[in-house]
Amino acid sequence: MPRLIWGGADCVELARRYGTPLYVMDEAVIRARCAEARRNFLEKWPGASVCYASKAFLTAAMVRIIDQEGLGLDVVSGGELHTALSAEFPASRIEMHGNAKSEGELRAALSRGVGRVIVDGQMELELLDELAAGKRQDILIRVAPGVTPNTHSHIVTGHKGSKFGFPIEGRILEDAVVFAMNSPNLTLKGFHFHIGSQIFENGFHVESVRRVAALAERLKNVLGFETDELNFGGGFGVGKIPENAPALGEPHLPLALFTDPMMETLTAECEARGLKRPSVCIEPGRWIVAEAGITLYKVETVKRLPGVTYVGVDGGMPDNPRPSLYQAAYEAVIANKTGLPASEKVTIAGKCCETGDILIESIALPPVERGDIIAVFNTGAYNFSMASNYNRLPRPAVVLVNDGRADEIVARQDEAALLLGDRIPERFFYL
Ligand code: LLP
Repeated sequence: MPRLIWGGADCVELARRYGTPLYVMDEAVIRARCAEARRNFLEKWPGASVCYASKAFLTAAMVRIIDQEGLGLDVVSGGELHTALSAEFPASRIEMHGNAKSEGELRAALSRGVGRVIVDGQMELELLDELAAGKRQDILIRVAPGVTPNTHSHIVTGHKGSKFGFPIEGRILEDAVVFAMNSPNLTLKGFHFHIGSQIFENGFHVESVRRVAALAERLKNVLGFETDELNFGGGFGVGKIPENAPALGEPHLPLALFTDPMMETLTAECEARGLKRPSVCIEPGRWIVAEAGITLYKVETVKRLPGVTYVGVDGGMPDNPRPSLYQAAYEAVIANKTGLPASEKVTIAGKCCETGDILIESIALPPVERGDIIAVFNTGAYNFSMASNYNRLPRPAVVLVNDGRADEIVARQDEAALLLGDRIPERFFYL
């Protein structure tokens, strides 16, 4: 019976060797996306840079891949910063994000010498100025351009009233720019926007570019401020089926679908407004890793009811919370039956004690049996990184595959890891 091969490795064999659920990442796909970003963005536009948004998927091995591929890293917490630095990523190629950075996180960013701090609000700006006394830290100010892209409302970030950044219009932002210009400790290089995630059309990004170009002109005229750098964030969408899935594959969205019109618009806007074109950074997360990843599950039970057949697997919302959080849709195959035609409609249910823990609602599969290995596609982004221990399920291992070779890059949590940190007090207060 033909089996699913991923990164040259037999998925049934991987499931047997490493257990299930199992995240499997194809290194070649990650590196191909990095190469596309270099070829179609970095090498095309002078001064361009790419910072991989590490929140999508971050482990020590992933840090190494991004370093070898010559990209920068976007981190959003002390934990992501620590992971990057522990794997010896150069701090100068790290940018530090966060809408509620702690003093400790800012201190760590400053003392380790990150390349850019992306400042999200006035209070942070003033605190950073104090903490940076005696140094000079390069910063960008994050703005919310006021566009609402067509995606799930939980992952829209640059709309009017967003918790992220400064509203692009008005005095609050101008006051921040004046503050930064007058600070001996901070160098304001320019502005950042990230309008949201899982966006499939480029119009919202392009409109945001127009709005930051207008901002740059306004600040030049009103304050004499020159914008040297812009950061256009990420958000580039990823479908349900990766292009290298046997028989089913769909081509991925090319990065240039977004970056070409953004860069062309920026160039034209700057020319029309008499501005020097700032250098531009982008921060793709999902687009780099989503299609590299699959998750393997073992079928524990098949329940055929009138009107619906539930296939119960050994994972669910703890390893992939996205269906329940964002109604995210996924595609799957039976890894040990890829040659068989789909003959029944089933619902793939997670094993958590919640009706909402459904991984895939209604999918056509070959006849499913206990012990089958289900492979869910495009789980490389925001699955491992958002995993929890709900119902005390251990976090799955992550295996990196390439050309038939497999390396475990994150070990599965064992029972001891599950109890790590638990303490039983010597005396309970009511005893
Ligand atoms: N830059 C900034 C400042 C961001 O906040 C994000 C994502 C990115 C870049 C990368 O976005 P991407 O290229 O991956 O779309 N957990 C959600 C996604 C939240 C994304 C938050 N910010 C999900 O699973 O869909």
